[in-house]
Amino acid sequence: MTKTVFMGTGHYVPERVVTNHDLTRWMETSDQWIVDRTGIHERRWVSEGMSGAEMAEHAAKEAAEKAGISLDEIDCIVLATLSPDHTFPGTGCFLQQRLGLPGIPALDVRAQCSGFIYGLSVADAWIRTGQYKRILMVGTEVHSTGLDVSTRGRDVACLFGDGAGAVVLGPSEDDRGILSIKLHADGKYAKSLWIEAPGSCLHPRIDEELIRQGRHYPKMKGRHVFTFALQKMPEVIHEALHESGLSLSDVDLIIPHQANKRITEQVAKQLGVDQEMMFSNIEKLGNTTAASIPLAIYDAQRQGRLKRGDLLVLASFGAGFTWAAAICRW
Ligand code: UT7
Repeated sequence: MTKTVFMGTGHYVPERVVTNHDLTRWMETSDQWIVDRTGIHERRWVSEGMSGAEMAEHAAKEAAEKAGISLDEIDCIVLATLSPDHTFPGTGCFLQQRLGLPGIPALDVRAQCSGFIYGLSVADAWIRTGQYKRILMVGTEVHSTGLDVSTRGRDVACLFGDGAGAVVLGPSEDDRGILSIKLHADGKYAKSLWIEAPGSCLHPRIDEELIRQGRHYPKMKGRHVFTFALQKMPEVIHEALHESGLSLSDVDLIIPHQANKRITEQVAKQLGVDQEMMFSNIEKLGNTTAASIPLAIYDAQRQGRLKRGDLLVLASFGAGFTWAAAICRW
């Protein structure tokens, strides 16, 4: 049976490095607090003029080049983001225009930190049925333009970074490829991590009072998210492994969504695997939500941590709540 293989990977991170020391200029925080609680030392933030679609374009071009295909061989775009360039249309359409690929479908996926794995699942189904042959799957995020960088928003603002990661997916010619994907959500916790405004259910969607109250900034019940992530990530990894008839002893590398270094370390403990088996690049990029998994795949490959034939586990947890895992023979 056809499987979906990763043909090439690409990335883009903005040039502007924002260190924890830089954050102390705007909010009451410290390098020590952020490093101890999150493992983050620095993140990249866009400079004026850079958009999610433009970062995605750079990442996509690199992924196509690495896949050894020309851009016009891409027959579908799936793009995951929680920070679209505009409310509508989807950032996938802006990316499609930038890539010069009129006519091919462009689907935006809104599953926050799980957006990449949710999108992967859609792309995998399309490739296995033969509907599309070369799918560009991108995660791209611009958080920095929407953060409350005052002390009021420090719990969230210290976490997030900007960036884009892309992969080109196609049908495999051997036994490599995606073996299983498991997706979950629980909307009961939608307001534990969210941005309220602008919202079409508000009358009006946005006004000065909403802005004054800071309701256009992301809000998070950090401890709640933390606790749930520790429960759900190991659970969904076991579930996806079970589905593919494999176990943790078969796994070479786990790439979790880069939410917090302490979450990654504690998930490893709960799974009973070596810390070295868990990939981390949050130190330098922070939490880039839907872009974090493809950016981590890219870095893992660049560091020689992913070799042909390795068994790779991807796992995520985030706003929604959504959580997911994918098992892949690389
Ligand atoms: O990818 C999306 C999913 N998101 C996540 O996975 C995030 C999960 N949550 C977390 O990573 C952690 O909850 C945080 C890193 C966000 C916060 O760490 P915490 O250990 O849960 O701290 P806390 O929210 O319980 O806050 C403890 C204290 C508070 O002060 P008081 O009330 O004890 O005086 C906060 O105001 O730390 C304070 N605090 C900060 N202090 C310095 C919160 N943010 C900061 C900050 N610098 N940046």
